[in-house]
Amino acid sequence: MRYFDCVIIGAGAAGLMCAATAGQRGRRVLVVDHANKVGKKILMSGGGRCNFTNQWVEPSNFLSANPHFCISALKRFSQYDFLSLVDKHQLAYHEKTLGQLFCDNRAKDILNILLAECDAGEVTIETRCEVQRITQLPPTDTTTHPDEAEIDTARFELQTALGPVRCQSLVVATGGPSIPTLGASGFGYDLARQFGLRVTELQASLVPFTLKGERLALAQSLAGVALPVSISCNNQTFKEALLFTHKGLSGPAVLQVSNYWHPGEAVQINFLPDHDLRACLREWQQAGEKSELKTLLSRLLPKRFVLAWLVFPALQALAVKPVAQLSHTDIDALVSMFQCWACVPAGTEGYKTAEVTRGGVCTDQISSKTFETKSVTGLYFIGEVLDVTGWLGGFNFQWAWSSGWCAGQYV
Ligand code: FDA
Repeated sequence: MRYFDCVIIGAGAAGLMCAATAGQRGRRVLVVDHANKVGKKILMSGGGRCNFTNQWVEPSNFLSANPHFCISALKRFSQYDFLSLVDKHQLAYHEKTLGQLFCDNRAKDILNILLAECDAGEVTIETRCEVQRITQLPPTDTTTHPDEAEIDTARFELQTALGPVRCQSLVVATGGPSIPTLGASGFGYDLARQFGLRVTELQASLVPFTLKGERLALAQSLAGVALPVSISCNNQTFKEALLFTHKGLSGPAVLQVSNYWHPGEAVQINFLPDHDLRACLREWQQAGEKSELKTLLSRLLPKRFVLAWLVFPALQALAVKPVAQLSHTDIDALVSMFQCWACVPAGTEGYKTAEVTRGGVCTDQISSKTFETKSVTGLYFIGEVLDVTGWLGGFNFQWAWSSGWCAGQYV
């Protein structure tokens, strides 16, 4: 039997941050992960450059059944605290867009920082280590180990592929089930349920939409075309790029809005977020423009997009009309198609491609200060396994750093 003050399940962003913090407080920390390598999602993230935080982190960038839960941790370990760590290790980084901060070189640089910090805290990390069973020990356990003090304080016993371990604090940092090939699993939710905690509804999020029927045909004919849009669902609007794919819609705008979408709902897309199409059409009419509609629209939108769109039966007849002949009804139809397109996705591409899982272990049962569960002393949940989901743009890693660091102060 081995003894640690703290065992952390999951050597991802949150787990490693928590381990380094607790280790540097002098706690004896073991991190176990069933994957063959640590930090796989970090390595894959941001197209290999890791969008590790955002300059403009606000609680409103996060979704949760309890929107107040994230406030304290984001304040106590903010994006500036993570940037101090990055500066301490002299990592070169840059802002790409909308405050999103990326490594200049490779995502591995972020993982190396976390591993160096874990080293400084003498953290033990074991990969390929499946956790088979977890038992909560009775408070007065007095079994075989000679060190009575340790026996008295151990609260959990883990059966793992590398033998049994006992610990005082157990941290669940197993993330969500998106991208199972990277070691993702629903283990954290099962464990939460084992200890009587509630798990909210789960959904693949930050994920492309799939389409059906004529909408799918349209997307397929435009696969590879990207354009700036504003896209809305459930009172949230994002102005970023949309990308047509062979399966439907993707790009940052679509991933962002997927956080707010539920099956069966429509999203509204404005393909001309910087123009008032009605005003443009009127201007062209007043200026006596003789050109066909498709020619004029191609001044505002990619030509391939305009041509593909105008084969829709409702717009076909308009495509070749001189703009001067457009009626009020024609203009209404054009504005509704190009500036307020209501599209009901057939679904999403699911956990195979989703960046995160929306929902998770219900935060009502977790202290927002320590991340310990209110009902089971010594049991902590951090990172994505919790019901806290960030926007695209470095927010999910910031949540992992903030929650990991805060729990690391108490485990
Ligand atoms: P994380 O998933 O990082 O770690 C969980 C760990 O637990 C893994 O190492 C896993 O192997 C381990 N584990 C799971 N089940 C286990 C079990 N049963 N036993 C033992 N170990 C187990 N976010 C962002 O802010 N910026 C970005 O650029 C990106 N980019 C990005 C790209 C891609 C492709 C994905 C899939 C995701 C992103 N994200 C992102 C999201 C971000 O990666 C994610 O929110 C964080 O990694 C969550 O950190 P956690 O530590 O909570 O889980």
